[in-house]
Amino acid sequence: MKEVLKRAQEGQYAVGSFNFSTAEVLKAIVMAAKELNSPTIVSTSEGEGEFIGMAEAAALVGAWRHGTKLPIILNLDHGKSLESVKKAIEAGYDAIHFDGSAMSYDENIANTAAIVSYVKGIKEKFDREIIVEGELGYLRGSSSVHEEALEIKPEDLTSPEQAKDFVERTGVDSLAIVIGNAHGIFLKSEEGLNLERLAQIREALGEKVFLVLHGGSGIPEDDIKKAIELGIVKINVNTELRVAYQVGLVKELKEKPTETTPYKILAPSFDAVKSVVKEKIKLFGSEGKL
Ligand code: G3H
Ligand code: ZN
Repeated sequence: MKEVLKRAQEGQYAVGSFNFSTAEVLKAIVMAAKELNSPTIVSTSEGEGEFIGMAEAAALVGAWRHGTKLPIILNLDHGKSLESVKKAIEAGYDAIHFDGSAMSYDENIANTAAIVSYVKGIKEKFDREIIVEGELGYLRGSSSVHEEALEIKPEDLTSPEQAKDFVERTGVDSLAIVIGNAHGIFLKSEEGLNLERLAQIREALGEKVFLVLHGGSGIPEDDIKKAIELGIVKINVNTELRVAYQVGLVKELKEKPTETTPYKILAPSFDAVKSVVKEKIKLFGSEGKL
């Protein structure tokens, strides 16, 4: 993971982190990455991991890695406790996103630092490098389609001074920041990024930490490109994949209400998810970056 993100930092592109909770969505992500020769991060939130099974997710990813020879990194997305981090590592995950952003600043630092030290402490036991992403700022929304307008307040954004202090005191490898991004797609508002704030955060942190953008769905393409130029190296996308899946499924069930074969029913969803992932890989610039 470190190597993949380091190369992205040097090459000024970003690697997509795509969420999945079923085998066919994972396959669609992998097939898209394979066709475009792209490194990829596949993620499960706590809920998604519970649905597919964390050990099962790791086994599937292992099989795909072996079958495709691609660098496919399995990431715990928005882990909220040490218990869930431990479960992911035991199951074979390569990367941990610990989200303490709902806690007070000091609690977030204390909990994130404890996760970093736990992960460092078990390094030898697992014989693989596991990287830790922290989160700072108030990221609104959830990975779904929102009718209500998005209202981001200035105090929601990550402060450059706090970001520097947070990284120094926790020892995280990566930091998820809030710069106008939010989880989900907002039908009534534009999800524009505050690029000036991003530049200030980059300036405060230098290159020693990887910058991560959550809430990758619904952000204008131009903002995404500029954010990558300014140092974002990992972009999380979930809602656009969920919408593609759902639209494909509803259409198929309407058109063929008597179809009962799962792989036939799921084919349009599979194709739709794959095509969104391909678009994102191209937009993020990780095509051909193996
Ligand atoms: O952690 C997952 C991402 O931040 C997903 O955000 O649903 O807006 O694409 P999104
Ligand atoms: Zn997120």
